[in-house]
Amino acid sequence: MATPVGIIVGESIGNFWIEDALMISRDDAVTLMEQKVKNVNLRKHIYAVEAGMIQLAEHFDEDATIWGLTGLLHDLDYDKTAKLPDKHTFITEDWLKPYELPDEMIYAIRCHPGHEPCQSKLDFALYATDPTTGFLVACALMHPGKRLKGIDAEFMLRRFKEKRFAAGATRANILACSNLGLELPQFLEIVKSGMMRIVDVLGL
Ligand SMILES: [Fe+2]
Repeated sequence: MATPVGIIVGESIGNFWIEDALMISRDDAVTLMEQKVKNVNLRKHIYAVEAGMIQLAEHFDEDATIWGLTGLLHDLDYDKTAKLPDKHTFITEDWLKPYELPDEMIYAIRCHPGHEPCQSKLDFALYATDPTTGFLVACALMHPGKRLKGIDAEFMLRRFKEKRFAAGATRANILACSNLGLELPQFLEIVKSGMMRIVDVLGL
């Protein structure tokens, strides 16, 4: 087994780290993602999901490294599986095997297109954040300023109720935020706040 490198999670005792060492750093995860994902819009979606997941992790005082990386790695195979939904995430799992990531990350990734039922907060967070980023991008682009900062709760909620607006952003999946104990407006605000941290990357 390779020596664990990259992000260390766990506790230090003296100079030694115990518990789990993640065998992939964020930089390595970005390199892997950009190796596998060539579609620029898909990359932006992935960065948006990562940002939303980090913001949610901070809100819940969860592990932002684990949550962020789960977002960053969730759609690795989508360039290949867009037309093969049964295979989506399973190719990703194969690619991630060498990194021996925690089961909770792999399970959450498998849950996001519905291959498994969501159980943990991490599962529900990814499941709900995935379509929310696309919805928020559509909101921003529809707003006169075409900027995320221009959209407020009222605007988002009005658009949310319009079924034909950003129809690909499945409302039922977004509403799974209730499983995190969040009302829709609060959830949308949190994900938007995360995305606002990377507006340069998103071009919004
Ligand atoms: Fe996604």
